[in-house]
Order: sequence, then structure tokens, then C-alpha cells
Amino acid sequence: MKLGVVILAAGKGTRMRSTLAKVLHPLAGRALLSHVLDAAAALGAARVAVVYGHGGAQVPAAFADRDCDWVEQRERLGTGHAVIQALPRMAAMDRVLVLYGDVPLIEPETLNRLVADSAHTQLGVLTMTLADPSGYGRIVRDKQGHILRIVEQKDASEAELAITEVNTGIIVAELTALADWLGRIGNDNVQREYYLTDVIGLAVADGVEVASCRPERLEEVAGINDRWQLAELERYHQRRLAAALMHDGTTVMDPSRLDIRGTLICERDVVLDVNVIVEGQVRLGAEVRIGPNCLLRDCEIGAGAEVLANSVIEGARVAAGARIGPFARLRPAAEIGERCHIGNFVEIKQARIAADSKVNHLSYIGDAEIGSKVNVGAGTITCNYDGACKHLTRIGDGAFIGSNSALVAPVEIGVDATIGAGSVISRQAPAAQLTLTRAPQVSHPHWQRPRKAAPADRE
Ligand code: UD1
Ligand code: CA
Repeated sequence: MKLGVVILAAGKGTRMRSTLAKVLHPLAGRALLSHVLDAAAALGAARVAVVYGHGGAQVPAAFADRDCDWVEQRERLGTGHAVIQALPRMAAMDRVLVLYGDVPLIEPETLNRLVADSAHTQLGVLTMTLADPSGYGRIVRDKQGHILRIVEQKDASEAELAITEVNTGIIVAELTALADWLGRIGNDNVQREYYLTDVIGLAVADGVEVASCRPERLEEVAGINDRWQLAELERYHQRRLAAALMHDGTTVMDPSRLDIRGTLICERDVVLDVNVIVEGQVRLGAEVRIGPNCLLRDCEIGAGAEVLANSVIEGARVAAGARIGPFARLRPAAEIGERCHIGNFVEIKQARIAADSKVNHLSYIGDAEIGSKVNVGAGTITCNYDGACKHLTRIGDGAFIGSNSALVAPVEIGVDATIGAGSVISRQAPAAQLTLTRAPQVSHPHWQRPRKAAPADRE
């Protein structure tokens, strides 16, 4: 069975009040439509067509790398009209599943169930029951419980409005039958639209049994119309991600204050304090502790390492047992060795630091190779940039860099070398020697501080 998926995304999204198309707004760091495309891919859809709105070229442009067809719906004449636009792209398919670009959290398992439960017939509908069904199309069934048709809120009678089982909008149908029914729908209704939902009544008139099933959770079929609904669905989704992490042995101090906008893999007994933001691919070893207000993007942190409050780690690797922060910034290609300490207001970029070294306060280390057991004093700066090119600083094992030193790259500090505080080092500093460029300290015993003249002296 070849399954095609049609994703409707031609809505204007007026209530977002945004220049960005609604389906491009992010949930968990990814466009709404990207979640739906992933669901279609997870189903093993043989073909995916997205119906986008007139003037919405930013939507296909944002997904240039995706393997799907784009169909422009020039006039928004209804959901039935929208599906008709995509039918030519479904030509080789057996069945067609209709999804929505602004319904991002639909689970592939639910869709698989809908497809399976509808396999014996030509049409299946995903329905749900709501305490307040207002706004939705109502599922009208006969006394035996067979689906007869779907009636839109605006076209419904008093009795039909009382029905609480509603249409989620998601349907699956045999392609040839769907094309036939869609060829027969009209727009003789209150909204003058071509309703996709009218195919249900036409199927029943053809003697077709309409199958149905329900999603496990209502949030799966929740559509987004405004930024408030987007934020609510984001929180729901984040709490589920937090729950999954906790289930697998991670402590999340407050599941409502964790944001995962990518993939987080945690080994056992990781602790995440509040307001941690994860982006891209992040991997945390066993017993890693992440303090409050940390941003982790595309990084790997080894077992037992600790990241203290307000640190930003991006594109970096931190080995086991290291301690980072508070207020540290690790930038791309920073590689921090085992048990290193990187302290407050330290920025590290493109630098490898071997085990047991310390850069504890107020330093910039960029384009450097630092050995093990090195102590980099407060305020040390690698002057890696000469205005044109970046140059390398090398520091040997066991070196001690006095505070407030400038290491003017390219430069090399030998093994066990000591650099006196306040030095500007621009040539090689030999191993095991003290090197310093500090001006000698002088004192002037007879010097007097200038004084303001006393009033009596003014005559
Ligand atoms: C639709 C269903 C309704 C269901 C509800 C669930 C119809 C006629 N009604 O109503 O039974 O309970 O969804 O939310 O199908 N779209 C297009 N092109 C169009 C019209 C719509 O792409 O010409 C897209 C929109 O972007 C939107 C989706 O289809 O994502 C639903 O359209 P909308 O007009 O909001 O349908 P509802 O009135 O909500
Ligand atoms: Ca809607």
C-alpha cells in the first residue's frame, strides 16, 4: 500500500499578526510544518505534498532541502478545494492522508492506527470528543453508531450543535474514491467553501462504511491560530520531553522551566536546574550537573562534570569531572580536559586544554593549545588576532601564567615555565624559567601629592 500525505498549510494565519507565515513559527526550535513533515516521514509516506497559500513563497523556500512537493493554492476556497490542488501529485498513491501544517504534535502512532483501522474500507476519520465542541465540524452518526456525515458549526442545526464528537480534520481515504468524491463536492453552504468534510456524506451515500479512531491525547490534534496557543502547546510539549527524561533517570528541578529545542541525551543521574535551554545535539554524561540559567548548544559534557549557573556552552566538549562557570562561555571547538576548572567571566574559543588545568577568572583563551596542570591566572588574554590573521598560543604542561598577562600569538610558553604577572609575552618563554616583562617597581620617597592652596595663602 502506497501512502501519500497531503499537508494543508494555505491558511493566512491572520491571528499570529506576523510577517512570518504561521507554519514557520517555531515549536521546540523547529517550524510547525517541520514537525508535520517529520510525522509524515515517520509513517513512511511515499509522497508528501504541501498546499501553501498564495504569496506564501517563504514556506517552500524554508524547506528547500526537504523531499516534498509544493502546491500553491491561489485562492483559499476551502479544505476540499485545497486537497483537490494536491491530487495530481498523489497520482501513483493508493491512499491519501490529510494533515495540517498548523497541527504540529500529531503522533505517527495515532496516524498509523487511523490508517490500519481504515484499511478495510475507503475512508477513515480521526475524531475526538470535546466538552465544548464549538467551532468544530460535528460527527453525525446513526442510531447504530455509523458515521453519516460531518456538519460544520456554521451549517449545523440546534440538535447537531449539541453533538460533542467532532472532526479533527485528519482523514485517510483511498485515492480513486477521494478524487471521485472531491469531484462532486460543491460550495452550497454558509461559508461558500468547498468542504473536505463533505466527502464523508458522499461516501456514505455510495454505501461506504466510514471508519474512525481517536488520538490518545487532545494536544496531538490541537491547531495553532495565535501566539498564546503556540506557547501553550510549546509548554505541553516541553513538559512531555521533561517527563521522558525524568522517566529515564534525569532529575529535572522544575519540568516547567526546561526548554529542549533539539535533542538532549542524558546518561544516568544527570541533574538539570531551572531555566536550562538545550539547542541542537547535546549529550550529558552520567552525574553531570547543570546549574540554573545555562544555555547548552551542540555540546558534549563528560561524566561527573559540573556546569555552574549562567554559563553558555556552544559547540564545545567538556571532559569528565570538569567544572565550568559560573558565568563561563565556551565557544565552538573549545575542548576542556578532565577535571579542568573554567571559572567566571572566562571565554574559551577554539582551544584545547588538557587535564587538570585551571583558568579560573576573567580570561580570554582563543586559538590555543594548553597542556595539563597549567594555571592560567586571572585576566590572562591570548592576543590571537593581529587584525588580519588568527595565531596560535601554545602553553606547556605545568606552566603558570601570572595574572593580567597578555600572550601575543604566535607564541609558545614552555613546560613548567612561569610568567610574571602583568607581562606582555611576544617571544618564546623557555621551559622551567621565570619570564616577565614587567617594568621594575620604583618608589619616590620625597614625592608629595599636589594640594589645593589654603584660603589664608591666597592674599
Ligand atoms: C476544519 C474542518 C472541521 C474541523 C476543523 C478542525 C472543514 C470544512 N472543516 O474547520 O470539520 O472540525 O477543521 O480544526 O474542513 N486550509 C487551506 N486552504 C483552504 C482552507 C483551509 O489550506 O482553502 C487549511 C488551513 O490553513 C487550516 C486548515 O486547512 O490549517 C483548516 O482550515 P480552516 O478553514 O481553519 O477549517 P476549520 O473551519 O477550522
Ligand atoms: Ca481551524
